[in-house]
Amino acid sequence: MLKKIAVMTSGGDSPGMNAAIRSVVRVALHEGAEVWGIYNGYAGMLAGEMELLTSRSVGDIIQRGGTFLGTARCEEFHTEAGQRKAIENVRQKGIEGLVVIGGNGSLTGAMKLAEMGLPVVGLPGSIDNDIWGTDYSIGFDTAINTVVDAINKLRDTASAHRRVIVVEVMGRKSGWIAMTTGLAGGAEHILIPEMEYDLQDICKQLVASRDCGKKYSIIVVAEGAGSAIEIGKVIAEETNFETRVSILGHIQRGGSPTAMDRLLASALAEKAVLALLQGLSNIMFGYRTGTICSVSLKDAVTCQKTIEPSLFRLSTVLS
Ligand code: ADP
Ligand code: F6P
Repeated sequence: MLKKIAVMTSGGDSPGMNAAIRSVVRVALHEGAEVWGIYNGYAGMLAGEMELLTSRSVGDIIQRGGTFLGTARCEEFHTEAGQRKAIENVRQKGIEGLVVIGGNGSLTGAMKLAEMGLPVVGLPGSIDNDIWGTDYSIGFDTAINTVVDAINKLRDTASAHRRVIVVEVMGRKSGWIAMTTGLAGGAEHILIPEMEYDLQDICKQLVASRDCGKKYSIIVVAEGAGSAIEIGKVIAEETNFETRVSILGHIQRGGSPTAMDRLLASALAEKAVLALLQGLSNIMFGYRTGTICSVSLKDAVTCQKTIEPSLFRLSTVLS
């Protein structure tokens, strides 16, 4: 049984990370273990920025987006020397194991620490929802609700002006935010990195739907599938429709986590701590078809989480 562990957040922040940290700390304390917080991701691990946490340290944070521990992207940690230094820093404090909350990159780093002998358990924290081994990653539900709220507002003005509005959402390599919010927001077209599309054909469809009486159109594009600005230019030129662009950017990363993200974060974190304290390592806990289960970090970071084909099929029918 491990008696002293640490928790950290890394990579792109996501709403619900604070709820996960809170659960790690309070479950570990309940099990009689000591919990340290590592600040600012792997950069903080390398700089030795860590502090003993108490139950009070995680009071009044469940409702807050972001991560009170801070996060960072850290080039030095990509090197084996950096990883060894990080392990040395935590071992100097007597820390025996680590919970890492982050996306694919952070979990890859976590896997390397585990392979070098430091017990590590990962949690999927990313708004992109592009982490294999879990149906939902922490922050995804909050992010898509933020986007759908924005789409609702954009529909109002698109309708008032009879315009086409192209909405760009996050997702460098993954279309999960675009696909789910395009469906939930009633978008006419959804452009994602995983699926080829023909912009000329989309323009023809926009003209045809206008001829059938559709007053306005919403197009949702994932940043990894193209630039909303460029797409908007082509649509305006090809259709002569008034076209506007809205790039939602980092508002998708903030906000008070939804109840679902708080529940997901709290429940996954409990399993991660209990597993780590029992000596398990190199695994990630996720939520799959209604149950919490673990997968190897290797699988989590190497297997590709694909878009549900049924979602894409539905989007073409409904639009
Ligand atoms: P995310 O975890 O949100 O995907 P990044 O991909 O930026 O974010 O990764 C966050 C940090 O994790 C990086 O800055 C780096 O310190 C570490 N990391 C990412 N990929 C690797 C890797 N292949 N090997 C070791 N560390 C990595
Ligand atoms: O990985 C999550 C994410 O929000 C991506 O969707 C986005 O492209 C990226 O992070 C933005 O990174 P940064 O916050 O470093 O600009």
